[in-house]
Amino acid sequence: MFTLAQETADDWWEVEALFDLAFAPGRTALSSYRLREDVAPVAPLCRVARDENGTIGGAIRYWPVRVGDHDALLLGPVAVHPIAQGEGLGAALIRDTVARAEEQGFARVLLVGDAPYYARFGFQRLEGVEMPPPTNPDRVLGLELVPGAWAGVTGPVTRAA
Ligand SMILES: CC(C)(COP(=O)(O)OP(=O)(O)OC[C@H]1O[C@@H](n2cnc3c(N)ncnc32)[C@H](O)[C@@H]1OP(=O)(O)O)[C@@H](O)C(=O)NCCC(=O)NCCS
Repeated sequence: MFTLAQETADDWWEVEALFDLAFAPGRTALSSYRLREDVAPVAPLCRVARDENGTIGGAIRYWPVRVGDHDALLLGPVAVHPIAQGEGLGAALIRDTVARAEEQGFARVLLVGDAPYYARFGFQRLEGVEMPPPTNPDRVLGLELVPGAWAGVTGPVTRAA
């Protein structure tokens, strides 16, 4: 049984360790990390799942980015501890935070990930949205929190000011 809560400053290194465990080595060399450098995450959307003993089971973070002249949320990293994978925790973290983002008035979400996993949450391939290279365009996915929010939104993805 996991409980989700907003990530605190004390959680930061434990969440980093979880991401190190869940992802291949060198994750911070990925181009998406350049979009996060020197930019604060969107705190209310950074959530940590802990079990009844306080052990971390999963975590998700979001950053603000720009796509052309528009604001967007960059979902990720998201990870679930290897021993807790496949039990719905990843889906719970994504659904919880997407609902919060919608409530808070964000219009659109972007991520780089596996379409077969994210399609179940409504993410679709984005045409004309260019992540910093090297990024496989088939992995650039978007979700509209407001109907039509991705219509006509194209261009390079850049760091939020
Ligand atoms: C991806 C991840 C966050 C999913 O969390 P989870 O709690 O394991 O997933 P859920 O329990 O919500 O969903 C499980 C389902 O997703 C599928 N799935 C998981 N990862 C997948 C992937 N990369 N591509 C396609 N399907 C995937 C599983 O096969 C399973 O399918 P089923 O429902 O048909 O049985 C987790 O597996 C993880 O941390 N992976 C390593 C880090 C990572 O790749 N993060 C995402 C970067 S894009």
